[in-house]
Parts: sequence; C-alpha cells; structure tokens
Amino acid sequence: MRACLRCVVAGPKPWRIALRRGIFLSIEPMLARPIAMQLDRSFQVDFKHRVRMTRDALHPDNATLSSVLCDSPDRRVIAFVDSGVHQAHPDLGDRLANYLGARAALGESVPQLRAVEIVTGGEAAKNSLDVCEQVLAATDRHGIDRKSFILAIGGGAVLDAVGFGATLAHRGVRLVRMPTTTLAMDDAAMGVKNGLNQFGKKNFVGTFSVPWAVVSDECFLATLSDRHFLAGFSEAVKIACLKDPALFAQIEGDAPRIRSRDLGAAMPIISRSAQLHLDHIADGGDPFELQEARPLDFGHWAAHKLESMSNYTIAHGDAVAIGIALDCQYAVRAKLLSANDQTRIERCLKSLGLPLHHPLLAQTDQLVRGLEEFREHLGGGLTITLLRSIGQSVEVHAMDRAIVTASAQALAALAAP
Ligand SMILES: NC(=O)c1ccc[n+]([C@@H]2O[C@H](COP(=O)([O-])OP(=O)(O)OC[C@H]3O[C@@H](n4cnc5c(N)ncnc54)[C@H](O)[C@@H]3O)[C@@H](O)[C@H]2O)c1
Ligand SMILES: [Zn+2]
Repeated sequence: MRACLRCVVAGPKPWRIALRRGIFLSIEPMLARPIAMQLDRSFQVDFKHRVRMTRDALHPDNATLSSVLCDSPDRRVIAFVDSGVHQAHPDLGDRLANYLGARAALGESVPQLRAVEIVTGGEAAKNSLDVCEQVLAATDRHGIDRKSFILAIGGGAVLDAVGFGATLAHRGVRLVRMPTTTLAMDDAAMGVKNGLNQFGKKNFVGTFSVPWAVVSDECFLATLSDRHFLAGFSEAVKIACLKDPALFAQIEGDAPRIRSRDLGAAMPIISRSAQLHLDHIADGGDPFELQEARPLDFGHWAAHKLESMSNYTIAHGDAVAIGIALDCQYAVRAKLLSANDQTRIERCLKSLGLPLHHPLLAQTDQLVRGLEEFREHLGGGLTITLLRSIGQSVEVHAMDRAIVTASAQALAALAAP
C-alpha cells in the first residue's frame, strides 16, 4: 500500500492527479462522511400465468382463445406465425380472422386483428435479430399499445424470438403464446423468459417476462414432423426424472404408443409436463432465476453446448435427451445414481426414439467449456442439477472432466452398431 502511495506522489503529473482523485473519491467519504441517504425497499408484484389446453382453438364455438383476449374493448392484436406452421396450415390467418369475427358477432369484445405476419420458423428465428425487428416494426406500424396483444403461433424458437420483441416494445406488450410443437406445449410456452442465440452461445440475449396467456391446441401436432414430435418428450422425461416418478413410469409404459404418435397416450404426458413446469415457476420460489441453481435445466449444460457446437443443427429436444443421458452416466460414476435408474432412463429415451449420443460429444475440450458458459449465464458459482434417483435431484458444484469424458465414451459405445 505504501509503495503504491509513493508511486502516486512520485508519478508523472497526469497520473498523479488522476490517482490522487481516485484515492480521495474512494477513501474520503468512507472515513469522514455518513451516507446522506440509503433507501432499501422490498416489494412484491403479483403475476398471473394463464394456461389453457384445448382442441380446435379456432373453431368459432371454442371460447378458449377469445376468453383470454377479451380483456376490454378497443384492443388490437397482431399474429406472428411460424413459417413451418404457415406452410402446414396456409389458411391459418383466414381462420383466425373468421374466428375473431364470429366471437365478435356473439357480443364478445375481442381485439381487432390488424395483421398476420409470417416469421422464420425453427432455431433460425433465434439466430439473428430479424424476427425481433419484425415484431417491433409491426407493433409500431399497427399502433399496438401496451394493453393490446401480440399473438405468437409456433414452436419454442418462434415463441422465444417473438416474445423477445414483445417484451421490448413499449417495455412489454401483452404476449399470448400458441405453442404448436410438443416441446413448446410441454415446456417452452410455460417459461417466463425468452431468448436469442448470440456469440455462439445459446440464449445469450433475452429477458424474463411473464406471458399474458398460453393457449395450446393439440390439433397443431398433426402436422409436426416425427423428429420434432418426439423431441418434445425429452423435456417431459426431464421433469419426470426431477419431480414425478409416477409420470416417469407412465412415459416408460406409453413410449411405444407415443412413438407411433398416439395422442391418447401423448396428450396426458404433455399436459402433466406443462403443469409441472408451471408449478415449478409459480411455487418454486425463484421464477426469475435469481438464485444460482436452475433445477429445470437438468441435462441442459451439455445440451446447450452441443446445440451451439453443431451450429444449431441438433434440435433442442434431441440435445436435451443426449444431455440427460450424459449426466446420468456421470451421476452413476460419481456414485450418486443407481445403475438401475440410469438404465431405465436410457431405455425410456431410446424407446421414445430419442438420441443418446452425438459425435460432437467426443470433443471434450469444447464440450466442458459449456460448464463455464452455463455458470456465467446464471452467475455465481457453478451449480449443476444431477439425479440421486428418479424423482430426486441433487446439486453439484463441480464436474470432473475425466468422468465427463468417460461418460461420453460410454454413450458412444452404446450408440455403436
Ligand atoms: N423460453 C423457455 O422457457 C424455453 C423452454 C424450453 C425451450 N425453449 C426453446 O424452444 C426451442 C425449441 O422449440 P421446438 O422444439 O418447439 O422447436 P422449433 O421451434 O425449432 O420448431 C421445430 C420445427 O417445427 C416447425 N413447426 C412448428 N410447429 C409446427 C407444426 N405444428 N406443424 C409443422 N411444423 C411445425 C418449425 O417451423 C420448426 O421448423 C429452443 O430454442 C429452446 O431453447 C425455450
Ligand atoms: Zn429445454
């Protein structure tokens, strides 16, 4: 310290002045003056997360969607439709206009539909600011005010990208999400956040924001590709492993029916998973992730890294299945999880047609950088959720690189023909 002060006194003039100022600014108030004012206030804000599940939401007799839009008269709405959904349902904009017209004719004060815009679907929606800018421009052009609505219809990526725009315009326009994939219905639409990928990092950009409402319509699932239909069940397996052994057993038993796209088996699992995600947000005590742990991100540290390593060619749901398999292999080696539970989880993922391995897992150097990126995203110390058993999780604060490598190698051996 003394040496440092001597340098200040003896240093060249500009430095001397600057450093002296620095010293006086930092030390003098502490020593001599009390804080003139300090106001620390805590306050709570109540949020309402409205979730509805239905069939044929745009049938004129179905009041589910209109009931969440009929808040008061003179509102407006713009719909943003995922390009993949638009391709499979080209008449969606007309059906929405007819629907709102029919509900208005019944005397409901539905908002005025100002526009239906198509936005890039899939992860590409999150890889640039284009969708967000489209949302902002349309919000301005159509005079959408803070109490009007942005209706996002699409997969989880479009919900994230449109949701990000909606949270920026006027510091937050009411967002109604209509999820159209299994993953968006059983997980993404429940989230109170959005995200874009930047700097090669998943969800680097984004905000926390509670949607006005979520309206799921299972009819959308009919046009989803097999790959994306099945991918969503990795999030159901994840939440079952964390919180609900009975749900896990149900998924295990119904996996062959889900694989053949039997909605009688799939929908109860999607609904239960959605409910568990919502319950965690509402009752888990940390909806905006202020703490270090993020239990719903079991299997996600590796999943997010694999997605960016693959330049987002691996679907999120597939990456989560691989991430879960990796973390279960790890947990057995770390003597946390029984081999029996791990085998059940792997078999369940496999019988759902989900992948357990990807060649990029072999790039351990790059993969384990995902741990630091995960920590950085959450802040504070590294906290990874692993399993102690199906239904019981445990937090660890370090991951052994050699065990990660051995776990990845074990998955590679399983995947070998
Ligand atoms: N905000 C959150 O809390 C949260 C939570 C979980 C996941 N996510 C995000 O969700 C994204 C993954 O979402 P996803 O699995 O829904 O994939 P996705 O949004 O990438 O959609 C998959 C593909 O299906 C197409 N599609 C969507 N609905 C369709 C339909 N009904 N018929 C035909 N095609 C359709 C899309 O155009 C796209 O090509 C990831 O970016 C993930 O990070 C967000
Ligand atoms: Zn996820």
